[in-house]
Amino acid sequence: MTRVLSGIQPTGQLHLGNYAGAIRQFLDLQAEGNEMFVFVASYHALTSARDPAALRANIRQIVIDYLAFGLDPQRTSIYVQHDVPEVTELCWLLSCVCPMSLMEKAVSYKDKLAKGMAANVGLFTYPVLQAADILSVDAELVPVGKDQVQHLELARDMAGRFNSEFKAEVFQLPAYRLAPDAAVLPGIDGEKMSKSYGNTIDPFAEEKALRKRIMSITTDSQGMFEAKDPERCSVFQIFRAINGAKDARTLALAERYRTPGAAGFGYGHAKQALFELLLEHFGPARARRAELMTRPDHVDEVLTRGAAAARTRARAVVARARGAVGL
Ligand code: ADP
Ligand code: TRP
Repeated sequence: MTRVLSGIQPTGQLHLGNYAGAIRQFLDLQAEGNEMFVFVASYHALTSARDPAALRANIRQIVIDYLAFGLDPQRTSIYVQHDVPEVTELCWLLSCVCPMSLMEKAVSYKDKLAKGMAANVGLFTYPVLQAADILSVDAELVPVGKDQVQHLELARDMAGRFNSEFKAEVFQLPAYRLAPDAAVLPGIDGEKMSKSYGNTIDPFAEEKALRKRIMSITTDSQGMFEAKDPERCSVFQIFRAINGAKDARTLALAERYRTPGAAGFGYGHAKQALFELLLEHFGPARARRAELMTRPDHVDEVLTRGAAAARTRARAVVARARGAVGL
């Protein structure tokens, strides 16, 4: 059994990229019987969020969606970051061993600066808070999407520095795990699917809106009877990510791209196949979500229990860290 932790920022509605890169791994690791901590990174979101009502709603929605996708509160501690204040204390202790130069090379910070965002100190030290999340429960394994690899390397670096500067084995160095077919899922415009690019597909969208969204995925202009390369088509890439690369239906779809036959096979057909797949794949989650929306007390209870479990671990870690530094 491995202790697993991961989190997602409440900056908007979860999308298929989050599911393929992160959430599906949480579900697999939960099914293996690991000790699971999955949280909502509320403080991280504050590096950019400035609409309190939207933040509150997004936090709540992510918890409901975790549950709808199949995270089971009996097996996974689900909590909101700011309900575990030990994390911010650890963040300070780690920031005191973290060289400025380490943060200056963090790509997510550099990217945001390059996009012209005014950087605040929170954004600059974002990776320290993320390291604190991970180290606060002695996580051994962190399932994430590809874009988070550097943050995980930084967390290992900070943990190792702390241990060596204070000559104590306070922190366990965490490993990371990428989705088995670690592809970055494209959005409807072919760029990386991301909340901040407005190109996402929401697996919980109402049927009509979902269909419209899928029909708007950008493709090239090859005709019904031309042989097409599935690898270069976002519709196929999304289908494969959700249905599995080796599944017979995925292989059959790829074949229809390559050999459209006398009846022809166009992007409209591929989009219809993706639409039907999504309704089928997320059918149970969509039903659970509708039900969970009517049970706010249950959601509160899940969060109370999750935070209590995370705090029990975090208190012990903070006590170790304080002791090691001389406090
Ligand atoms: P976003 O870019 O939409 O804001 P987040 O940064 O909140 O997404 O990511 C949450 C998790 O989902 C991370 O583990 C991230 O790696 C994963 N993820 C996000 N977008 C994608 C994508 N397009 N393909 C694969 N994984 C993704
Ligand atoms: N930075 C992560 C993201 O944008 C979210 C996150 C915060 C996280 N703390 C974490 C992920 C700890 C894994 C572990 O997706």
